[in-house]
Amino acid sequence: MVFKDEVNRRRTFGIISHPDAGKTTLTEKLLLFGGAIQEAGAVKSQKIKRGVKSDFMEIERQRGISVSTSVLAFNYKELKINILDTPGHKDFAEDTYRTLTAVDSVIVVIDVAKGVEEQTEKLVEVCRMRKIPIIVFINKLDREGKDPFDLLDELEKKLKFNVCPLTFPIGIGYDFQGIFNIWENNLMFFKEENKQKISNKKNILDLNDTQLIEFIGKNASNKLDEEINIIKEVYPNFDESEYLDCKQQPIFFGSALNNFGVKELLDCFIKIAPPPIPKDSLERLIKPEESKFSGFIFKIHANMDPKHRDRLAFIKIVSGIFKRNKPYHHVRMNKKFKFSSPNAFFAEKKEIIDESFPGDIVGVHDSGNFKIGDSFSEGEQINFKGIPNFSPEHFKYINNKDPMKSKQLSKGIDQLMDEGVAQLFILEINGRKVIGTVGALQFEVIQYRLEHEYGAKCSYENINIYKACWVENKLNSNKELNDFKKLKQKFLAKDKSGALVFLSDSAFSLKMTNQKYPSLNFHYKSEF
Ligand code: G4P
Repeated sequence: MVFKDEVNRRRTFGIISHPDAGKTTLTEKLLLFGGAIQEAGAVKSQKIKRGVKSDFMEIERQRGISVSTSVLAFNYKELKINILDTPGHKDFAEDTYRTLTAVDSVIVVIDVAKGVEEQTEKLVEVCRMRKIPIIVFINKLDREGKDPFDLLDELEKKLKFNVCPLTFPIGIGYDFQGIFNIWENNLMFFKEENKQKISNKKNILDLNDTQLIEFIGKNASNKLDEEINIIKEVYPNFDESEYLDCKQQPIFFGSALNNFGVKELLDCFIKIAPPPIPKDSLERLIKPEESKFSGFIFKIHANMDPKHRDRLAFIKIVSGIFKRNKPYHHVRMNKKFKFSSPNAFFAEKKEIIDESFPGDIVGVHDSGNFKIGDSFSEGEQINFKGIPNFSPEHFKYINNKDPMKSKQLSKGIDQLMDEGVAQLFILEINGRKVIGTVGALQFEVIQYRLEHEYGAKCSYENINIYKACWVENKLNSNKELNDFKKLKQKFLAKDKSGALVFLSDSAFSLKMTNQKYPSLNFHYKSEF
């Protein structure tokens, strides 16, 4: 196959949802329909069950499993599909944000009873920022839930979607009888069947079939007729370019657990989802079909075995062909690296590959050199954009508990931050280190890993911080900047890249500072 065809047959996407909406179940069912697994449950998910107080050891264990589910690749109808797994646990939301830098499109799963939930809103916001095309799957139609039209309204209001239903349910919960596939103009009826396997049983009719009443009854048939008329009148026709432009979101209904509506989703997905898209760098736009290799690290996974501190870095290939044993330029370090055993990922295994193409993910060994966001090329200076840090939610001072191990502590903190476990801020006034995390759990994870992987002990101390804001001197007013620095000296820090960050102690103080210094901008993320 020629290079261009290899690029065009890749579809790399992520599934996002609020925990429990059915992301894991849908992922498994897509693998099942794609023929990548024979039975649901065969792929261990990286799902981290939410407990009252989650056990961080359990999370460590899950992290180990999740290497194998980080990328789930399979071939389906000539296409190579790469599903990038995203952790559902909200404490790991930042991992998900970063994974979204490596996808070309996403599927959002919504629970029919719960509608749009908090985590979905946040993740969709990140997709919007990155202009990622979105397909929506409304799940659990076998359960009682919200009226489908109300849900469509909710998607428009809360997520600012321009919805375009491509399937529509016939009844819901107890009355759920099937779905009408607007996209293919046929109907499929719901039967409880073996949930773990795919059966070939199908009952497909079109809307005008005289047997329709026989199948679903007169009332349901009339109602469906009415509803489809409303859909055709109220909602726009599907427009592929609008979808790709992130201006229209196709909607599917179904029940992942019951294998229902999933094949319709997959078959439409492979037709409309984009192949690898160009990626912006500080220097220029990089196109996938360019002959020279380029890529970036979006995820780093630590080894579970404390005796081997090497890590696995995940590279998304942006352009050209990645080849085993070929030396590549690591842009930040200005150094050549070659990889003798790069891993490719499949649904049930990972294996060493000789070459990989744009859209694919390769896992390479890292002995502690790499950072999330690092770019590789064949020599060109390329720094990919779009891998910002977001303001953490929790902050604590980190102290050294064992003065004999300060080197180990520094190294440990450094490497954990490179992996993206948390963020480090160094206070300007006294050089003290502040750790910021998305979830409270990470503090335990860091403490545990520092001790077990680096032999260092730390303790934490509370600090009152509301948000970390990256400071932009948008009007280049040095006077304002200097005034601000003088007044807020106590609250200023540098992030790991040396950027100035204002650690505001309250929403009120942030608002007042904003008003007082109109030439400055305070951003909740490091890229603006
Ligand atoms: P997540 O990854 O988004 O967190 O959700 P996950 O797939 O784990 O699904 C959450 C729960 O919802 C699971 O039940 C799953 O079986 C159920 N579920 C998923 N899809 C459907 C559906 O179409 N219909 C119904 N009725 N339930 C669905 P659980 O009891 O929490 O877990 P489990 O014991 O079944 O694994």
